[in-house]
Amino acid sequence: MTNNNQGIFLVIALMLYVNISFAQKVSEINFYDNIAPIIYKNCTPCHQPNKSAPFSLIKYEDVVKRAKFIGRVTQSRYMPPFPADRKFQSYLNERGLTVGEITTIKLWIEGGMLEGSEKPVVDSGRSSVPQSNVGSLQSSVFSLQEKVPDLVLKINKPYQILGENIEDFRFFSLPSNTKKDEYIEAIGFTAGNKKLVHHSRLMVDTTNNIREIDGLSETDLKVYEFQKTTLKDEFLYGWVPGNDKISFPKGTGIKLNANSDFILNMHYAPSPVIETDQSEILLFFAKQKVEREVKNFTLRENDISNKPFLIKSGEKPTFYIAKKIEKSISLISVLPHAHLIGKTFRAFVVTPDGEVVNLVKIDNWDFNWQMTYQFKKLLKIPAGSTFIVEASYDNSAENPENPNIPPKDIGYGWGTKDEMLNLVLYYLDYKEGDERIEQSH
Ligand code: HEC
Repeated sequence: MTNNNQGIFLVIALMLYVNISFAQKVSEINFYDNIAPIIYKNCTPCHQPNKSAPFSLIKYEDVVKRAKFIGRVTQSRYMPPFPADRKFQSYLNERGLTVGEITTIKLWIEGGMLEGSEKPVVDSGRSSVPQSNVGSLQSSVFSLQEKVPDLVLKINKPYQILGENIEDFRFFSLPSNTKKDEYIEAIGFTAGNKKLVHHSRLMVDTTNNIREIDGLSETDLKVYEFQKTTLKDEFLYGWVPGNDKISFPKGTGIKLNANSDFILNMHYAPSPVIETDQSEILLFFAKQKVEREVKNFTLRENDISNKPFLIKSGEKPTFYIAKKIEKSISLISVLPHAHLIGKTFRAFVVTPDGEVVNLVKIDNWDFNWQMTYQFKKLLKIPAGSTFIVEASYDNSAENPENPNIPPKDIGYGWGTKDEMLNLVLYYLDYKEGDERIEQSH
């Protein structure tokens, strides 16, 4: 091939690769036609006012102002955040850009960030955001929270976050005061202080015996007493920035016994000044009869085959769980959980026929981005299958996430500087045809 031919060949290959039509040259990549659809779908759900991200990515100017940074975080795949390996399993709530989308952003920035022209504004009445060339996509992004919850439970009174530049881990008790049993059809969380609420974990207690945990710091000795309580749900829901509400399949729900208490474990980021937070739990109850109860079970520290669950200072152990189930189930979601020194997490199932069903694989465990992974379709796990979990930890001094320098032995505990190994599984008892049920938000 001559040089010239080679050049043309390269440009055509690139155009095909990044999915740009022949009608539109690389030099014509512009915001409204090419970039806005990518941003609205993948970034704006979090990067808009009153959502988790610290700045908005809506208008042309918003994106141009941070273009270099955006190029960098998309190429490194730091944004949009999604810790699980999407080649291992795919999820209803997965995020990620294609190589084509990343390249389109890169070429747009290199080409001088053309604005292009916006198509006529359609006022949907929903938001102040201009309705541009992305139509229905955009309305789907901005309609996520339209449904009104049946019960909103707030932290009792505004909590004063310590202004001492230290991380603050707190428990709160939020009695539901419900008079009858309900079924939770969907559940969500709204951070009161968007800047400082780092993440939260929600538990359900039916004993009503640990209400005094309200407002206690994780390091309070009483917490060690309370953690002996057997909870109905140890991890009903986990919120990290960008985690929207979770909905269960139609006609199913999690049973919430009358008068249950929610126990909220909050992590606040360090702040130099005193600030307040009054976060909320959003509960959506089933209105129709719930035919099937969403159940959960947790594979945990007690189930490991290489006991004890103790991570000696300086060591980098891997713990293994192999647990067989006797009845067929339909898996809705998985939620892997570990604390600061977690490194990798992998879970899969081996069926009696020797088939492998992948659940979740995280190669770079990140304490800050823990989320529920909901499968696109219900996942049938036949009776006699074995769940396998492998989780590794790094308690060496080289681990920048290590909370103790020099390292100390770390064992099980609710505190963030203790460790845990959980895989929380939401499921239904299997019914013929479940594997064809598509889940939705
Ligand atoms: C799930 C919610 C979420 C999504 C989706 C998301 N972001 Fe973010 N983004 C955040 C949060 C929260 C932060 C601040 C915390 C951080 O930097 O880790 C952030 C920070 C950033 C930063 C600053 C990074 C830094 O180091 O300070 C950039 C740039 C950014 N996002 C761009 C994007 C782009 C571009 C997309 C889409 C391709 C995107 N984000 C999608 C939540 C999100």
